[in-house]
Amino acid sequence: MKGVVLAGGLGTRLRPLTRVTNKHLLPVYNKPMIFYPIQTLVDAGIRDIMLVTGGNNAGDFLRLFGNGEDFGLSQMNYAYQKNEGGIAEALALAKTFVGEDKVAVILGDNFVQGTIKQAVEDFEVQPQGAKIFLKEVENPCDFGVAELKGDKVVRIIEKPESPPSHYAVVGIYMYDASVFDICDHLDPSDRGELEITDVNNEYIRRGAMTYEVLEGWWADCGSFEALLRSNLLVAREHGMDV
Ligand code: G1P
Repeated sequence: MKGVVLAGGLGTRLRPLTRVTNKHLLPVYNKPMIFYPIQTLVDAGIRDIMLVTGGNNAGDFLRLFGNGEDFGLSQMNYAYQKNEGGIAEALALAKTFVGEDKVAVILGDNFVQGTIKQAVEDFEVQPQGAKIFLKEVENPCDFGVAELKGDKVVRIIEKPESPPSHYAVVGIYMYDASVFDICDHLDPSDRGELEITDVNNEYIRRGAMTYEVLEGWWADCGSFEALLRSNLLVAREHGMDV
């Protein structure tokens, strides 16, 4: 399975921290934010990784990673997202890299405490379709939220005013190669972006979506509060009493 890490965007919600650098290069405890999601893929056994970034600081990623030596990789692949077209637009840039393979996609600001290795292995043998992770949260309005009927996800609503559940969609997604055809046929949302939630809803419509409830903590860094929380969670993992 290929891995794609998405690290574009302008990080406007974190200004002025992101005025002169990319959000994913900000520190989380003792490493740049982007190290954690890459490590999550590597720990799951994924070695073929592409980083998609954009904005004014894209070159910094090359200096930071080189060929991925910090992660025991012999090669790191890069793609450049020219516009702010959303997560699904960024993913579409990995089309040639992924080819006919399956792909695990992780957002560059998402942290998980545990491993996703078992889910990756389960998806390897899933004949087709997609797999997502859900996590129960107190603030579902900040995320994509799953509407569940019995044990099935019937729809995902992006940042809903009245959330249909407390299950947020984690920023880690696994897809078969048909994802690129789906991305090609998406319409931009009201905020002018190609939404990953629309990709997931298409898999649900096709009856090809499975999910798993994530164990352990999950954090993203979309706001100052979330960034601080991520720092604290990671520091505690290192035994700090904070
Ligand atoms: C994105 C997705 C959302 C998901 C979240 C996880 O939101 O659109 O569905 O729940 O990542 O971090 P964003 O943080 O880009 O607003």
